Amino acid sequence: MGPGPINADPRVLRAMSAQLVGQYDPAMTEAMNETMALYREVFRTGNEQTLLIDGTSRAGIEAAIVSLVAPGDRVLVPIFGRFGHLLREIAERAGAEVHVIEREWGTVFTAAEIEAAVRETSPKLLAVVHGDTSTTVAQPLEGLAEICAKHGVLLYTDVTASLGGNSFAADELGLDAVTAGLQKCLGGPSGSAPATFSPRAVEVIEGRKSIEAGIAGSADEIAATRIRSNYFDLAMIFDYWGEKRLNHHTEATTMLYGARECALLLVEEGLDAAVNRHRLHGAAMLAGVEGLGLTVFGDRAVKMNNVVAVVIPDGVSGDGVRGELLEDFGIEIGTSFGPLHGKVWRIGTMGYNARKDAVLTTLAALEQVLRRHGAAVTAGGGVGAAYEVYQDARAGAR
Ligand SMILES: Cc1ncc(COP(=O)(O)O)c(C=O)c1O
Repeated sequence: MGPGPINADPRVLRAMSAQLVGQYDPAMTEAMNETMALYREVFRTGNEQTLLIDGTSRAGIEAAIVSLVAPGDRVLVPIFGRFGHLLREIAERAGAEVHVIEREWGTVFTAAEIEAAVRETSPKLLAVVHGDTSTTVAQPLEGLAEICAKHGVLLYTDVTASLGGNSFAADELGLDAVTAGLQKCLGGPSGSAPATFSPRAVEVIEGRKSIEAGIAGSADEIAATRIRSNYFDLAMIFDYWGEKRLNHHTEATTMLYGARECALLLVEEGLDAAVNRHRLHGAAMLAGVEGLGLTVFGDRAVKMNNVVAVVIPDGVSGDGVRGELLEDFGIEIGTSFGPLHGKVWRIGTMGYNARKDAVLTTLAALEQVLRRHGAAVTAGGGVGAAYEVYQDARAGAR
């Protein structure tokens, strides 16, 4: 019940036990095409270039940034948690001139604040995390595309933590590049990064195309602004997933089976239904921790559905409670980073773990462990408050 990775859906695990086939086997190319189509639904996009980057979520981030940004290009990163720092770091390593604006963790920027920074720095790329798992809040993306269009800026967002559990629509939001991971609301293991790129982003990336030696044709040239990474060269990766089937990396077939199943699960459930499920169980967990008498961290107006940060009560050992929950109940909850380290726990209700039994069991266990650690908790207050949320939801649905 941490902030991800979480228990994988058993269907995903079963899909990943399928036999391997070569990457040019018609069964594999069909699986790749099917995966592209499924992720167009998940991202709610018509983008042709919707595919998987092999590697964990940060592989997707790195592929997007290193392929869009050439050394010396300006990038603006609004930072409101750990993963904004990661975007900054990756853009810096790509040789970009990086400008940042920062806000206190647990809060987000207004569109006006971001526009002021765009005006001041004239970046080529605005790179912003959607839901920052480290703080549990999500930056509203509405209005950013209009700002970017006005100033000729490309817009990238990392939806690793939010996709599947919170409303999101890449095309409606006008995004140029979006990357994700499987290990949160998608209910899979880490190791594959679904991503999508708008025609505008594709044009920028294709302008840097340089096919590697050994497979390049005599007419293929090396671009002046060749992408600095071979593995994350999206221009080659597009041709690998596209009709050319350009030989690039050896497909991580098992991860592809897993990623395809994650998307299938969401599409079968219905994207809106999945978001509602995360909203319901997230609300029950939040009510439950408050029912125990605990305090929730962060601006609730922009809190993600799938994770809650809980202030560790004074005098209670955060690691001691986590250790006992794990040892005695087999329940893992998350610690925190940076300014929140030692101050909050993060409890997830995402993917396969966004379930009533998981929420109620966690709250019951947390109450017992907290009491053993000397915290004043309301007896039965956690499970009771969560039950009320479920009852209200049932009454509302009638
Ligand atoms: C918002 C966000 N971005 C990026 C990452 C990095 O993901 P990975 O560890 O899969 O590379 C994470 C991981 O938790 C995340 O929450």
